[in-house]
Formats: sequence, C-alpha cells, structure tokens
Amino acid sequence: MAAALRAVVLSGSGRSLLTPPKTIPTARASMSFASLSRGRKVALSTLGVLAAGGASLALALHHSVKASELELHPPSYPWSHGGMLSSLDHASVRRGYQVYKQVCAACHSMEYLAFRNLVGVSHTEAEVKALAEEVEVVDGPDDNGEMFTRPGKLSDYFPKPYPNPEAARVANNGALPPDLSYIVNARHGGEDYVFSLLTGYCDPPAGVSLLEDVYYNPYFPGQAIGMAPPIYNEVLEYDDGTPATMSQVAKDVCTFLRWAAEPEHDQRKRMGLKLIMGSAILVPLVYYLKRHRWSVLKSRKIAYRPPK
Ligand code: HEC
Repeated sequence: MAAALRAVVLSGSGRSLLTPPKTIPTARASMSFASLSRGRKVALSTLGVLAAGGASLALALHHSVKASELELHPPSYPWSHGGMLSSLDHASVRRGYQVYKQVCAACHSMEYLAFRNLVGVSHTEAEVKALAEEVEVVDGPDDNGEMFTRPGKLSDYFPKPYPNPEAARVANNGALPPDLSYIVNARHGGEDYVFSLLTGYCDPPAGVSLLEDVYYNPYFPGQAIGMAPPIYNEVLEYDDGTPATMSQVAKDVCTFLRWAAEPEHDQRKRMGLKLIMGSAILVPLVYYLKRHRWSVLKSRKIAYRPPK
C-alpha cells in the first residue's frame, strides 16, 4: 500500500517522468439533491419555501413600520469635514460651542464633555480656564463635612441645566431634552438630521392640528416635537463677528456636536492617510515577497506513479 501511494514531486523540467494517472476508486459521498430519499426531498423543499416566505414577510413588515410618508428625510449637506481627508472646521467648532453655551445649554446637558476637552481644539488653555471659572461647582465635603461651591476647573464636566431627568421633564412640558454629547451619532442622518431639525420648523399642513406646547417639524419622527424652535436669525452675537444667520448658527452647532461625538475625528483621518501611504509601500513589497517565497511550492508538480 505504501508503495502504491508513492508520490513523485517533479520539478518543471521533469515532466517526462509523468505517466498517465490511474484513478483509485473511493467511496463517493452522495451529496446531490437527486440522490436523497423522497421524504428528505419533501422536508428540504418545505424548509426552503418556509425560509423564503419568512424573509419576505419580514421585509414587508419592515417596510410597513418604516417612516411614514409625512416624514422628511434630511438631505445630505456638503459639510466641510465631510471628505475622506478633511478635518473639522475648528473656527466653526468654537462658534458652535458658543451657540451650545448660550442657547442649547439652557435645556440640554452634555455630560460627557469636560472643559479640558476644549483645550487645543477650539480654545486656548487660558480661555478655557476662564470659561470654567464662570460656573459654580458643588464640591466637598470639606473638613467640617459640609458641601461647598467653588469656581469650575479644567477637569470639571459641563454644568447640567437640570439636576435630574424628572426636573428636566417638568420644565419642558413632559418632553426630555436628550443629552447632546453623542447626539449626532445617536440619530439617523447625524449632523444632516440635526441641521435639518433646527432649521426645519414650519407651519403644520392644513388639517393637522397639534397639541399645546408641541411644534411642527417635518424632520422629527411623528412631526410633533416638544422643543420650541431654538434658533433664529441673530439669536446670538458671535464673538468673532460672523453674521449669526439661522443657517450659520445651525451649521456651527452641528460641527461642534460632530466634534463632541467624535473627538478623534481629525486624528482618525490623519491616521488613515498615514496608513494608506504606508500600505502603498508595504503591500507591494509583501506581495513580491509572497510570490518569491511561494514560487518553489507553486511551480512544483505532484504526480502519482503507479506501482510497477
Ligand atoms: C427650551 C429648551 C430647549 C432648548 C433651548 C433647546 N432644546 Fe433641543 N430639545 C428640547 C426638548 C424638550 C427636546 C425633546 C423633544 C421631544 O422629545 O419632543 C429637545 C430635543 C432635541 C433634539 C433631539 C431630537 C430627536 O431626534 O430626538 C436635538 C438634536 C436638539 N434638541 C438639539 C438642540 C440644539 C442643537 C439646541 C441649541 C441650538 C437646542 N436643542 C436647544 C428643548 C430644548
């Protein structure tokens, strides 16, 4: 048997040693559908039909619960940071922080952002220190077991407008203003959606009546949102003198929110560029090496030489 299974490894030039191979009869696994018993055929076919039916039912249900016809899908806007290699517009992040602080922070928390996060991104360290000192932070307990307030420090997190979600609901007619730290990642459409939401308030179409204290917004799921239109032209005055039109304000706050949700944004794209440039050199080298190493194995021929 051992002799019968002798295999000869031939180099490319040794072809003349080849004799036509004989096939060794082996037990063949019967895997084809035709060779199945009648019962199994029926069972398999039923399973197939059921799976296809289930999939189409799931698809149909999915479509029926998808956005109603009244809901507008946000268009995709040409964000200056939208490109594969484009960084965030940091002047815009800075203005966006101003919008958040002066407008949105009245209702929305950003509990995952600390003042120190702004350093080197939108403000200098001295500027951020001054910003932090504007807020009163409850700290303690001190040596007497009392809590006390002190001016904020770089390491403090952004102050919250309400002590807890219940208080937030009471102040907003039952609607809870979500935390904005990760909002552009938490909503379909990201900053396109938030921009559209902020600028998309309009009168309800004829025949639609709204409850008190909700506002019509075609981009919001259900169209009735508990947030009054937060921005309008000249809602604030920018420190850098940029005209504060509604769309400018919305764009800046969205850029700021993108940075907040993805602080690694610029670093990520820079790393990506380095990776692509590095790979451009490495991949061809590795490919060449692979071909070189495998050439011996790939160009040999294994033949069966039947026993004499
Ligand atoms: C007067 C309080 C108030 C202010 C100011 C305010 N919001 Fe809101 N916001 C709310 C409330 C309340 C909700 C919840 C609405 C709801 O669920 O119906 C909300 C919801 C949101 C949502 C989530 C919508 C969704 O899809 O669930 C976003 C995004 C948002 N606000 C962004 C902002 C931004 C950006 C600003 C600043 C320009 C801002 N808000 C200012 C009260 C406010």
